[in-house]
Amino acid sequence: MIIQINDISAYIDKEIIVQGWIHNKTGKGKINFIQLRDGTGIVQCVVFQNDVSNKVFDFAQQLTQESSVLITGVVRKDERAPGIPGGFEIGVTNIQILQSVNEYPITPKNHGVDFLLDRRHLWIRAPRQWAILRIRACVMRSAREWLDQNGFLEISTPIITPAAAEGTSTLFELDYFGKTSYLSQTGQLYNEANIMSFGKVYAFGPTFRAEKSKTRKHVTEFWMVEPEIAYCDLVQLLEIEEQFVSHIVQSCINQCTNELEILKRDINKLKRVVPPFPRITYDDAIQKLIQIKTEKDDTDEKTLIDIEWGDDFGAPHETALTKLYDKPIFVTHYPTEVKAFYMPEVENRPEVCYSADLLAPEGYGEIIGGSERIHDYDTLVNRIKDHNLPIENYNWYLDLRKFGSIPHAGFGMGIERTVSWICGVDHIRETSPYPRMINRDTP
Ligand code: 4AD
Ligand code: MG
Repeated sequence: MIIQINDISAYIDKEIIVQGWIHNKTGKGKINFIQLRDGTGIVQCVVFQNDVSNKVFDFAQQLTQESSVLITGVVRKDERAPGIPGGFEIGVTNIQILQSVNEYPITPKNHGVDFLLDRRHLWIRAPRQWAILRIRACVMRSAREWLDQNGFLEISTPIITPAAAEGTSTLFELDYFGKTSYLSQTGQLYNEANIMSFGKVYAFGPTFRAEKSKTRKHVTEFWMVEPEIAYCDLVQLLEIEEQFVSHIVQSCINQCTNELEILKRDINKLKRVVPPFPRITYDDAIQKLIQIKTEKDDTDEKTLIDIEWGDDFGAPHETALTKLYDKPIFVTHYPTEVKAFYMPEVENRPEVCYSADLLAPEGYGEIIGGSERIHDYDTLVNRIKDHNLPIENYNWYLDLRKFGSIPHAGFGMGIERTVSWICGVDHIRETSPYPRMINRDTP
């Protein structure tokens, strides 16, 4: 019977077949140890010369990394056996080789990251990459699950749109049959139309930003999940966000035990991610940063963290702030100047707006950006003009402020950033199956 490695515990003392690839092989004299991978896990297969025919033992001797094989054998429980899940091995009785591989390029030795990224189509087979991408799938699955269970309807938003929402400096321009259009930076503006029909919605898809700088936190193509809620203010929005993020993190802890172990992730740090998350205002955050700066001795560190009221945060600021807490934190009421055109000013304090970012702990930084949205027609028109955006591309969006306008709010969570944090992976490039960055659009 053909089985999957992750079901192996149900087949102790039974003869089974596993179809997979050779992850690794060691052996001496009359015995060979094969680490066999099948997509669901890795199992150790033991080939004893005495137990198999000469032909099968020869096959075992010749096996090379990533050769595709069918291995038949009897499952044994053995606490010492390595694998995913460990503790089982297969006493091999037969081996069928589908393809014998010559010189697989990614060997167990250390390779440079560019070498690996050039071979991303093969690199995804490595256990670490396997673990990260499985956690990514869990993040996406549990995000949808929470939203579906809490009354949100998934409505897809277009990828091609002439309406910029998140600044004009990161637009990917498109020649749309002679007219200028862009790859979408966000589904938000369409979500705002959708809530007027469905109340609570979310978009989940790829989004694009022509990020011209190389950083550990930016890719040019990333996935975003964007909930939007009718009749919602900032206070209510943050309550939704903390429930949502906690559900995702706890789902990963429960469903990805092996994967988090492969990544040597400290689960205790993730277990703390339960509501409520601390909330601090931008004003408070600036005070804290100034305080941290005075406590630093090193002049380089002082310069890095230098900030004045009105500046947007960079990575060093987010890192310094999140180090003060052991949970994700909300920073609220950012300066209106540094945020998007659709964010409403606070009454009597127009220099700040009803916005909130969620910063992940341990230096992972912003994973969510969210806000209330301007719902007054004239205010929104003025903002679009102030931001030098071509008003004709926003006529449909302005309609939403003419026909039953309401207070509303929403947020966007970046999947790659969230996966980086949950996995404890320092560079976002490993969290995308095929990352796109300023200098990379292949494989
Ligand atoms: O803060 P941002 O720009 O917010 C929006 O796009 C809103 N329209 C979302 C909304 O309210 N519906 O982006 C949201 C999140 C960021 O917090 C970050 O996680 C991720 O998207 N993100 C990126 N991730 C990877 N690479 C990039 N270049 C990213 N830019 C944003
Ligand atoms: Mg943002």
